[in-house]
Amino acid sequence: MKTMRFLVPLFLAACVTAGARDLQQAQTPAASTSKPIADLLFVLSAGKATFTDANTLKLEDVTQTAQFYGSGARAGIIPTSVFANGTAGASYVSADGEWLNNPSATLFGFVGENKTQTSYILTLASPKINDDDETVTFSVVASTTSSAVKTTKGVANEVLTQAETQQGYLQTVIQPGTELRDPSLFVDANREDMKPIAQTKTFWWWGPGWGWGHGGGWGCGWGCGGGWGWGK
Ligand SMILES: *[C@@H]1O[C@H](CO)[C@@H](O)[C@H](O)[C@H]1NC(C)=O
Ligand SMILES: *[C@@H]1O[C@H](CO)[C@@H](O)[C@H](O)[C@H]1NC(C)=O
Repeated sequence: MKTMRFLVPLFLAACVTAGARDLQQAQTPAASTSKPIADLLFVLSAGKATFTDANTLKLEDVTQTAQFYGSGARAGIIPTSVFANGTAGASYVSADGEWLNNPSATLFGFVGENKTQTSYILTLASPKINDDDETVTFSVVASTTSSAVKTTKGVANEVLTQAETQQGYLQTVIQPGTELRDPSLFVDANREDMKPIAQTKTFWWWGPGWGWGHGGGWGCGWGCGGGWGWGK
């Protein structure tokens, strides 16, 4: 089994090298239906999350930085004010106005007097930061099928698989007014898909090597630019 797993990628690599152009042509029709792999994960945590209505998620007592993780030990932090800025011209907003390509995310948290763990799969859009009370709101749509999830092999995909066998593990309907304690939002993303966003920015790059050209970070708190990342 181990040998097979090792050999198959080698074989594929050989094919790609030998007939890159043919393969590219053959794959073009499939590209519209195939989804990118989740190779980048952002995590934003808060003290409380409320679905203020069926399509709005409000995070209160939000942590000052969002965390991100890539494969291996690649990790870093980004000030929440930078990460969750959904206005035109902000770091993660593309030219057509979409924040982080309107990603799929999994919200984990605890509900009710018995702090029952619960989760939702959401499509996130248009984050808004309120500096006065340090809240972040998102426009959300609950996803209940894998076809609605934007990436493969991400947290959302795993949670959907787990939900098939565990009753109650995943909430499929948003009840307005629902409150979650200690929520964490896991946002699945694809590095390659972020390039069109990154290329319009002066300080952000998700290419090979995970280069960072802009500081900030420690001690800046809410409202500071930049971020820090580690790993090769
Ligand atoms: C969000 O980004 C815009 C555009 O770069 C900027 O003008 C605004 O100050 C940012 N908002 C926050 C809360 O940092
Ligand atoms: C919380 O747990 C207690 C003890 O198991 C139980 O009696 C109660 O009904 C639970 N409350 C809710 C809202 O599930």
